[in-house]
Amino acid sequence: MSCLVIEGQKRLHGETGVQGSKNSTLPILAALLLCEGESLIHNCPDLSDVAGSINILRYLGCEVEYGSNTLVCRAKDLDKNHIPDSLMREMRSSIIFLGALLARTGSASMCFPGGCDIGLRPIDLHLKALSELGAEISDDHGVFRCTVPNGLHGANISLSFPSVGATENIMICASVAEGTTVITNAAREPEICDLADFLNGCGANISGAGEGTIIIEGVNRLSGTRHSVIPDRIVASTLLACCASTSGKIKLNHVIPSHLGAVLSIFRECGCDVDIRGSSIIMDAPVRLTAPKIVRTMPYPGFPTDAQAPIMAMTAKSKGTTLFVENIFENRYLHVNSLLRMGANIKVEGKVAVLQGVECLHGAQVEAKDLRGAAALIAAALGAEGRTTLSGLKYLDRGYEDVEKTLRALGADVRRS
Ligand code: UD1
Repeated sequence: MSCLVIEGQKRLHGETGVQGSKNSTLPILAALLLCEGESLIHNCPDLSDVAGSINILRYLGCEVEYGSNTLVCRAKDLDKNHIPDSLMREMRSSIIFLGALLARTGSASMCFPGGCDIGLRPIDLHLKALSELGAEISDDHGVFRCTVPNGLHGANISLSFPSVGATENIMICASVAEGTTVITNAAREPEICDLADFLNGCGANISGAGEGTIIIEGVNRLSGTRHSVIPDRIVASTLLACCASTSGKIKLNHVIPSHLGAVLSIFRECGCDVDIRGSSIIMDAPVRLTAPKIVRTMPYPGFPTDAQAPIMAMTAKSKGTTLFVENIFENRYLHVNSLLRMGANIKVEGKVAVLQGVECLHGAQVEAKDLRGAAALIAAALGAEGRTTLSGLKYLDRGYEDVEKTLRALGADVRRS
């Protein structure tokens, strides 16, 4: 089993780019099922979740070529409407294929999706919304069977929570449904806007993405397009947390700073000097961070749940006390036990974690239990005294493209063994 060996306390310095967004790429790949022409997706990160999506596309009959962060897909003749369990269980976002497959073939069947074990991850909002668009869905011992006996039609869909995945599933499916769909309380994440840009590039008619109400005028068919995926705001947040953890100074290129508003405000509260220059962020971290008072995860534009773990790791050595409140997922403190092994002082009670900053962390043997937790442990290890050995890299590889190479270029001592 491979692991990362990290020798801590090397101050990060220099500059690096940021990979394309995983959370943008995955729904776009699912939407490719609807495109009858050829599509080219640039800035497509090389991740195991992307490989999982490519496997699903190929299984369903798409021709896919992938290399050098560019993906070419032709979805001309699709001959299947079932996704096997082994492909579904690889990742959570496989549920996004439901709307796309249904819209393309008129029927779909699949089991419950997999993904990180960060708490109950129901798909009720996805299923309810697809029913409102005309799907008939039955649950046959954990296998969903969906058909559209009278075709897909537009609907007014009000989400009880602005679920990112449900919003994406609706956008994809409704883009070829007959008539108008209005989503209220839609997710407003930048990845939603990226998906809308991609779909509109293929001929869809979607307006309001990035706002609480999205309007989709159904069109008959989608063609292919060329699209470049937006930079990954969570990877950017992670690299900044790694920098802050080592009192470093780095320049991140190819980012969209406005996507990082809530995160940058926490870095500034910690005493980091954050300078935005076009599509670059230059961050200079102090010798010791000041603990931010409260980090409360919220739907966008609030503080992202995906950045909670890396920010907690960097804060572990800060001066003062931070209250973390995790409002999105119920089990998103899986990294805390490992941080405790490294000398952190954190108490968790339900969705709240109270962190008392310590003078220093020390290296330890730790195991990642989820994707962002893996990133957090890297941030902690980079700032810790001595050597950390991190296992559980299958989680890391779901979302971070060659992170050790990126960190080494910034002066870190990290190797995979
Ligand atoms: C996406 C992101 C993930 C991020 C999350 C929140 C991708 C591939 N993943 O996940 O990295 O952490 O947004 O920003 O883009 N919920 C329900 N019923 C549903 C759907 C969701 O109750 O049908 C609940 C979830 O359990 C969770 C909350 O809504 O508590 C947010 O989930 P959602 O926004 O759907 O997240 P994902 O799309 O799964």
